[in-house]
Amino acid sequence: MSIKIPFLSKQPKETDSLSGENVPNHVAIIMDGNGRWAQKRGLPRFAGHKEGVSTVNKIVKAAVKSNVKVLTLYTFSTENWKRPKQEVEYILKLPKEFLHVYLPSLMENNVRIQTIGDFQALPSHTQEAVSYAIEKTKNNDGLILNFAINYGSRHEILKAVKQIATELKEERMDIDSLDEEIFSKHLYTNSVSDPDLLIRTGGECRLSNFMLWQLAYTEFWFTEKLWPEFTEETFYEALLAYQQRKRRYGGI
Ligand code: FPP
Repeated sequence: MSIKIPFLSKQPKETDSLSGENVPNHVAIIMDGNGRWAQKRGLPRFAGHKEGVSTVNKIVKAAVKSNVKVLTLYTFSTENWKRPKQEVEYILKLPKEFLHVYLPSLMENNVRIQTIGDFQALPSHTQEAVSYAIEKTKNNDGLILNFAINYGSRHEILKAVKQIATELKEERMDIDSLDEEIFSKHLYTNSVSDPDLLIRTGGECRLSNFMLWQLAYTEFWFTEKLWPEFTEETFYEALLAYQQRKRRYGGI
């Protein structure tokens, strides 16, 4: 399989086509820049989030096409509750709107929905819409579309530590058996491998409390493009950059 990148800013070369080999298994994305996209156009911030939803649809399709197995999208962080109430309410309605429009196409594309984060603390309408989609797509065995929603990595790590401490106290775990693999099993991400590639849009170069444990050996790719401007081509550009990297995991 060879995926041609339709356009690149530089002159296309022979190497500027994606190879079907060495496709990242798990791509995680920090979707940043919705607010700025709207403000640049004199629109309210929520218009940027709305536009961001159609980008999600495009990138899910591109991920399916490129044979990525897991796509994790940072949709709402534990810190995003600090935003004005109206914006929080708007963002938390988006999963329902997205699923209302796109669930048939997700089914057609054999996509399975999952989430990571503190699900129980979400409004009931968000929980219901997402739970319905999780149930509906549970037998699909294509791309796992993993929404990080009400997710914060420090919260996740602390939760894991508390669970482990309880298991030790109740003598359900032996301290000598605790290793990285067992620790990972206590994280929200216990059913998926660590991300191979992290993409952050919107020009900021930080992690914003996202998958701190899981990103230990992940390749990072940053772009100035704001999330609503992010296209399939930009996604392929990131995959291509990944394919041209050498991962050494601390070795030589
Ligand atoms: C960060 O941009 C974006 C968010 C906090 C919300 C992300 C949500 C979406 C992209 C839509 C969700 C889609 C689905 C399918 C549920 P920002 O608002 O921080 O942008 P700024 O840095 O320009 O202010």
